[in-house]
Amino acid sequence: MDDSSIFIVGANGQLGTALRAQYPGAQFADINELDITSEESVANFDWSGITTVLNAAAFTNVDGAETPEGRVAAWKVNATAVGYLVKACQAHNMTLVHISSDYVFDGTAEVHLETEDFSPLNVYGDSKAAGDLLVQQLDSYYILRTTWVIGEGKNFVRTMLGLAEKGISPTVVSDQIGRLTFTDELVRAIDHLLSSNAATGTYNVTNDGPLESWAQITRRIFSLAGHDELTVTDTSTEEYFAGKENIAPRPLGSNMSLSKIHETGFTSNDWTTALEQYVKKELA
Ligand SMILES: NC(=O)c1ccc[n+]([C@@H]2O[C@H](COP(=O)([O-])OP(=O)(O)OC[C@H]3O[C@@H](n4cnc5c(N)ncnc54)[C@H](OP(=O)(O)O)[C@@H]3O)[C@@H](O)[C@H]2O)c1
Repeated sequence: MDDSSIFIVGANGQLGTALRAQYPGAQFADINELDITSEESVANFDWSGITTVLNAAAFTNVDGAETPEGRVAAWKVNATAVGYLVKACQAHNMTLVHISSDYVFDGTAEVHLETEDFSPLNVYGDSKAAGDLLVQQLDSYYILRTTWVIGEGKNFVRTMLGLAEKGISPTVVSDQIGRLTFTDELVRAIDHLLSSNAATGTYNVTNDGPLESWAQITRRIFSLAGHDELTVTDTSTEEYFAGKENIAPRPLGSNMSLSKIHETGFTSNDWTTALEQYVKKELA
């Protein structure tokens, strides 16, 4: 598709950075150029020539969203601002691509289907669910529901590589189960949905591969980084956060069914292979 008709919002985040690499001709903005929480800025923005808006902006600090200020910020960015983008898309006949999260669910289902009812456990999840509801009012949209995003920026793999470098043997939660999602997988899925003209709607998109806990993933990271001498001690989410303030309750099961996107002809890549490549690149 013609890159120049694409607009990327939140262009400096993990996903925004990957989207800019995929669509070098796209127009883009970060918060300094377009603050999506300003109704006026979004409404008055020059959207001419744009057919597709990719919204990679979000308030992603899950525990931060549990503070009085964070609660306001999360709702502003993840819900109210999404409403402004929805209005702009309606007014200018643009398709909106929006990213959602496994956190819109309570994590009790063995497998999450796109049709599952919302059941968020925390403020971030509440605000993301509200954003989904707004986007779903459009005639032309794609919501990609994803998990555990890894790209260019602050993320779990980088944090664990930092610990390994310092020779720290960490205690890591072993009761949250899911799959990593690398930003290039999300970008591939977005490109596939747009270029294949797939049916508008909500799609789960994570990397494929084994369901593992954060502790198991950490062992893989340490091994790939040549730090098998470090030990990873399992703990429960409850124990890990005991006594800490403003901690968001987290869903334990993040197994997103990938059947719906596979039915459109998309093939998912395994996260374990993607992790190997990622760690190699980080250490190069
Ligand atoms: N990270 C995960 O593990 C995860 C899991 C499931 C779903 N998701 C979803 O995946 C999407 C991408 O996440 P990510 O990891 O790429 O997030 P990220 O790295 O935190 O990037 C989010 C970007 O949004 C920008 N932003 C915040 N408020 C804004 C505003 N008012 N106007 C314009 N831009 C604003 C941020 O700018 P500043 O940095 O300047 O604030 C940041 O560059 C999000 O929708 C997120 O909810 C993420």
